[in-house]
Amino acid sequence: MSAARTERGGRSVTVRAPAKINLHLGVGAPRPDGFHPLVTVYQAVGLYDDVTAVDAGPGEGWSLEATAEERVAVDLAAVPLDDSNLALRAARLLAEHHALPDDRAARITIHKGIPVAGGLAGGSADAAATLVALDRLWDLQTPDDDLLALAARLGSDVPFALLGGTALGTGRGELVEPVVDAGGWWWLVVESDEGLSTPSVYRRFDDLVPAAPAPQRPDALLAALAEGDVAALAAALHNDLAAPALDLRPDLAATVEDGRAAGALAVLLSGSGPTLLLLCSSMRHAHEVHATMVERGHRRLTAVPAPVAGAHVVTY
Ligand code: C5P
Repeated sequence: MSAARTERGGRSVTVRAPAKINLHLGVGAPRPDGFHPLVTVYQAVGLYDDVTAVDAGPGEGWSLEATAEERVAVDLAAVPLDDSNLALRAARLLAEHHALPDDRAARITIHKGIPVAGGLAGGSADAAATLVALDRLWDLQTPDDDLLALAARLGSDVPFALLGGTALGTGRGELVEPVVDAGGWWWLVVESDEGLSTPSVYRRFDDLVPAAPAPQRPDALLAALAEGDVAALAAALHNDLAAPALDLRPDLAATVEDGRAAGALAVLLSGSGPTLLLLCSSMRHAHEVHATMVERGHRRLTAVPAPVAGAHVVTY
């Protein structure tokens, strides 16, 4: 396999990974390990982060840099650039998995198009993209099952970022299997000015629902996807984290109302929020809803298609 050469002669691979939304998010009572059992339906949407990996020079070690698309108001200050960054953890985990020599390292650049701390799994997308980018850069030929297992160790949403499309997620979200999705859907993504911490939303869920029952498979939603029926999909969307997120962020209720009044078929909280998703019947409808939301003073809006592919190489 060949990789593109950078100006300085190093090889370079860029991998694009999508944001995810949860069409259904059923949450149970916390497990002994503190994670919540989930039954979720993930969908990959057309907002992306690109991760570029380049061989580090001799003795240079690992490094990480982040840039952002101007189109999306990404808060780069909220992206950690130290060892707590999921992309860097993914890189080290892959190197460890293959027992690579200590001096083998890469320069990683994340170009963000996915809002940070928005409930869109941007950090998970970066981790998935990094696994694939380094696998290709170094021709490691990691089997898919091994990549999925490494992804699961990094975070609940990382395996789905590898897979993309539309998938049922169980366990703590890390066990993923594709589901039939006949639709070509359009969402209007409404960003919030401030992020929301996922652990705090789960904690509030525990306060509000002290003995949550085991989450169930959402048969009506899966049927709506298989049939490509947008009205049935609108009726079947569900997120157990909506109540706790709105409890922490009561200001979101006004945006939900605006979305409904603007003609969205449904308004859904993305994951643990605070991003809101307005389901539209077509690209044209998404642009109409967009215009109405702008009239109501909303500024951070992006119309996106779904489902889209998981982490994939875009340049060699
Ligand atoms: O797996 P991930 O690192 O993305 O999870 C982030 C946090 O979200 C966890 O530390 C936990 O507080 C919460 N979480 C949870 N149950 C899940 C997934 C995430 O409680 N199934």
